[in-house]
Formats: sequence, C-alpha cells, structure tokens
Amino acid sequence: MPVLLPPALERSLDLLRCPTCRGRRLRPDRGALRCPVGHTFDIARHGYAGLLTGTRATSGDDAAMVQARDRFLATGAYAPIRQAVARLAADAAPERGTVLDVGCGTGYYLAGVLDHLPTARGLGLDTSVRALRSAARAHDRAAAAAWDVFRPFPLADGVADVVLNVFAPRNPAEFHRVLRPTGRLVVVRPTGRHLAELRHRLAGMVSVDRSKEQRLHRALAPCFEAVDTAQVEYSIPLPRREARDLVAMTPSARHVSDTDLDDIGRLPDRLTVSVLATAYRPQR
Ligand SMILES: C[S@@+](CC[C@H](N)C(=O)[O-])C[C@H]1O[C@@H](n2cnc3c(N)ncnc32)[C@H](O)[C@@H]1O
Ligand SMILES: [Zn+2]
Repeated sequence: MPVLLPPALERSLDLLRCPTCRGRRLRPDRGALRCPVGHTFDIARHGYAGLLTGTRATSGDDAAMVQARDRFLATGAYAPIRQAVARLAADAAPERGTVLDVGCGTGYYLAGVLDHLPTARGLGLDTSVRALRSAARAHDRAAAAAWDVFRPFPLADGVADVVLNVFAPRNPAEFHRVLRPTGRLVVVRPTGRHLAELRHRLAGMVSVDRSKEQRLHRALAPCFEAVDTAQVEYSIPLPRREARDLVAMTPSARHVSDTDLDDIGRLPDRLTVSVLATAYRPQR
C-alpha cells in the first residue's frame, strides 16, 4: 500500500526541488515524490522524504547516538538553549514563515521554534535515518527530509525565513542561497566551558577547539553578518544515566571506551552547559 503523504510534507512541497536535475518541482505520486522528468524519491514509512539517494552521506549519527540524544533532550536539560533559539528565530520569522533546520537531529529545536510561531511551517534536513524518524514526528507543522548538508540543498532559492544550525555541520553558501534577503541564520555552538567537567574527566571526549569560533566567523563572513548573540550558560545536575547519554550522543562515543564509561563513578554531580546562539543577517 502506498505511503500517505504526511500533511507537513505536503505543505513543504513548494520548497523542494528535484536533487537530481536541480530546479524542477517535486509532486506526490503513489507514495513517492516525482519530478516531471521522472526522478523518483521515496517517502519513508516513518514520514520523511528520502531525497538522498545513490551516494552515501559524508557523515551522520547512528541509532545509538540518536536514542541517547532523544533521552537526554527529553529531560529538559537543554530547554534554555531551545528558548534562546526560539527567541532569535521569532525575531526574524514573519507570520506563516518557513523555518529550515539543517542537521535537525530529532527535531527538538525546530519543534521549539514552531511552538513559538503558531502559523509557521518547518522542514528539517539530516542524513541520519534514525534522527529523521523522530524529526518527522517532532511537530505537526514540521516535515523532514534526508539530505547531506555538504551537497547543494534540494530547495528553491530564497524560500526560508530562518535557517537553524544547532550543533551541526554547516554549508554557508547554501544557507545563504535558500534564505530570503530578510531572513536570519541562527547558529548554536558550544563554548570552551560547555560540559567541561565531563570532558576533563573522560580523556577520549572530543574537546572544543578554541580556534573553532574564529573559523566559524571566517567561514560565515563572506555571506553573513552577526546581528544578535545570546550567551546561554547554566549548571545542571548530572545523574549517572544522563552522563552516559551525554557521552553517547556525541561523536566522542566512538572514542570513549566502555571502561571509561564504567568509570563514570568518578564524575561530578553538576555540569556546566555553555553555548553561544547567534542570529546572522545575509549579506548581499
Ligand atoms: C550533534 S547532532 C545535533 C542535532 C540537533 N541539531 C540537536 O542539536 O539536537 C548533529 C546532527 O547533524 C547530523 N549530520 C551530521 N553530518 C551531516 C551531514 N553531512 N548532513 C546532514 N546532517 C548531518 C547528524 O546526523 C546529527 O543529527
Ligand atoms: Zn528530476
């Protein structure tokens, strides 16, 4: 039986363009999306559009990482980050605006933004099949599609009022192309203090490189100008289970051994959360 077109995906069809012939619109056809030339992309049973076909994605979270992130975010520990993102996005999005979340993961931040914008619609892009399953269900106004941020987006020019990029890889030129001239790019990244107590104790955990901030500004500078930055810093309690999930949901999971994790008894009972959320205006 063909998969029904999820309502949020139906409302996003005007944004999408065929990734193969670039530029042509996609229309629903018997459980798939098809361009006029006949390129066809499945709609997954879980409700996201499988636009990334043929080539392997350059990167993406595996199921264990996504499940750990889902559990951790459900504790509400990052709710202040979600609020900061929602505020920066709401400043930019008009009524009935379009919010694109690139590297959306489970759709946690996209759903938070849509909650603040009662008539806006959202679209999340990610390479991780497990993340997309959650993202497609994250909000009734959010659609999700499989896509690799490092390839030209399967989207029309100038369609997004807000592009979100939260702890995820970036493609500044494509962010710029898909944003309207009045739109905003909202980027969230960790500072050097983020989760420091955990990183110091687990030698294998990926560190936040100080020069990352400079590299971000250099990468965005030709296309974007920063207009508003929120520093979000606070401390959270760290039960053992959440410590495990925090490690398991980052690329560090691949570098931290089971013995390190079993040593979790040595961990602090509180942890610093420290991120910067910046809204950027596109430069013409
Ligand atoms: C650290 S997670 C952040 C997810 C989400 N923004 C959040 O903060 O909850 C990074 C996300 O980027 C996705 N990702 C990694 N490489 C990607 C790529 N090349 N294209 C699209 N998404 C990618 C991962 O699958 C993962 O969902
Ligand atoms: Zn096509």
